This record gives sequence, C-alpha cells and structure tokens, in this order.
Amino acid sequence: MTNQPSQGTGQASSISWQSRQAAEAWRSMAAVHAGVLGQVTEQMLDLAALDPGMRVLDVAAGAGEQTLAASRRLGSSGRIIAVDISASMLEAANETMREHGADNVETRVMDAQRLELDADSFDAAISRFGVMLVPDPGLALQEIRRVLKPSRRAAVMVWGSAERNPFQSLPFAILRRLGVMPEAPAGPSGPFGLGGPGVLESTFESAGFRDVAVEAAPIQWRFASAADALDYYRLASAPLPPEVAARLGDEGGGVSRPSSSKSFDSSSIRAVSRCPVRR
Ligand SMILES: C[S@@+](CC[C@H](N)C(=O)[O-])C[C@H]1O[C@@H](n2cnc3c(N)ncnc32)[C@H](O)[C@@H]1O
Repeated sequence: MTNQPSQGTGQASSISWQSRQAAEAWRSMAAVHAGVLGQVTEQMLDLAALDPGMRVLDVAAGAGEQTLAASRRLGSSGRIIAVDISASMLEAANETMREHGADNVETRVMDAQRLELDADSFDAAISRFGVMLVPDPGLALQEIRRVLKPSRRAAVMVWGSAERNPFQSLPFAILRRLGVMPEAPAGPSGPFGLGGPGVLESTFESAGFRDVAVEAAPIQWRFASAADALDYYRLASAPLPPEVAARLGDEGGGVSRPSSSKSFDSSSIRAVSRCPVRR
C-alpha cells in the first residue's frame, strides 16, 4: 500500500526520482543489481542484525531490491516499512513485492528528513544508496535514530569517493565538462558525498549514534559487452533531466555487440551503528 506524499524538502540537485520512467528503469536494472550488489546487500542486512519477527524501516527504498531481501529474513511475523520520497519508485517496489508474494512489506511516501513515524518504534533500520542523496543526510540519520528503539542498529550503504567509483563518477565528470550538468554542490549530499575518509562516521556520530563501524565493500560491475554497460548507463540516467540523459547516448550508437566482456571496479562503504541506550 502506498500512502499519499508528504511535502518533501527537495532532492539532490538535477536528479529527479519522481517519474514513472525512472521507476521502470530502476526495476529493469534489478537483474544487474542482483548479481553485482546482491552479496554486499546481504552483508548490510547482517550488520543490521535482522531477525524474524522484527519491525524494520527501509529508508529511500526505491524500487525495493533490498526491501525484498530484508522481507525474506523477517518472515511472516515481521514487518518492513519501506519509505521513499517518490511515489513512482514505491509503486515499482509494490509491483516487485506482489510478484514475489512479499506481504510483510508496507510502502509509504515520505521524506527521509521528516519521518512521519513514531519514536522508538523500529527494531532495525537499513538504507541502501539513499541517505547520501537526501539534501541533508545528517537530518535523515537523526530521524532514523529517533524512530529506532534504544540500542537497536542502523545499517546503511553509500558509495565510496568519486575517485574509487569511476564507473559511476566518470559519466558525471564528462557531462560536467561538456557543460550539460552543473558542478556538484559541496557538502555531504550527492552520490559520493559521504564517501570521503571519516565523513560517514562523523555524520552518524553527529546524528547521535554510538559504536559506529564503517567498512569498505568492493564491488565489481560485470557486463557481457561494452554495449551492455552502455545500456545500463542509459537506464541509470533516467532520473537525470532529459537534456542531460540524452547526451549519454550521443556516442553509444557505434558500439557493436557482442564484444568482449567488461568489468569495472567500484567501491561502496557500509556503516553500522547503534542507538544510544538513553536519549
Ligand atoms: C539510488 S536510489 C536507491 C534506491 C534503493 N535503495 C536501491 O538501492 O535500489 C535513491 C532513492 O532515494 C530516494 N530519495 C531521494 N531523496 C529522498 C528523500 N529526501 N527522502 C526519501 N527518499 C529519497 C529516491 O526517490 C530514490 O528512490
């Protein structure tokens, strides 16, 4: 079920997740993501210490790939509330849950920076590639801490620094050089905003968490051909403004398939942290 949207306070500049097209593109990427991100996602769920019967919050859940993985761990006695600012993304998540018979999942449109949820009401919280994209990641973490029960865990996954993620960062760098995309604003909001040394730790600590542990999680993107990698880029560009996304296709027409397989190294970082016992 998807509730009506609350008023959001905005999104990372020049990226919009609201369109149906963006949501469908994200759902189409699920097969690639299952291969590339499946293991690191399960490790994030391990860090969150999910157990059957828990009530779990998934922040910026998107099309629900990690939600589905979490729902399997919780079983029929558990409940996962998946929130996102985009109704379209959550509609895609609902379709995925219906397809897989995951009936312990509820979706609600909501801004991560203003969770319309009771304090001390969740046994665990997760967020995959979400916290870094909200305009104020620190505020989102404060909200997550507020709704977690004392001493319960939040586990998040964000991208490492741009330098360690050429697969994601190079297209943006090229588009900026071409002048079709604005410079990334300074600060923690953006795909790589929490990826610098110590940034994720300090953002968690400033939000009031304790026992913060951050670890690198290497990821390798593998595609059967360069053309397949370009297809992925086109899908991934769906939330970009149309004039920007169009430029990603400019040079792709001449890539033949099949060509030799391509792989790209990438790095994400995971953090796990506990709510303080007394707040
Ligand atoms: C990169 S996608 C990740 C989706 C999903 N967690 C995954 O890993 O497949 C980022 C998601 O963050 C959501 N988002 C962006 N700003 C948000 C905000 N302020 N509050 C809640 N969700 C937000 C977007 O709508 C989008 O679904």
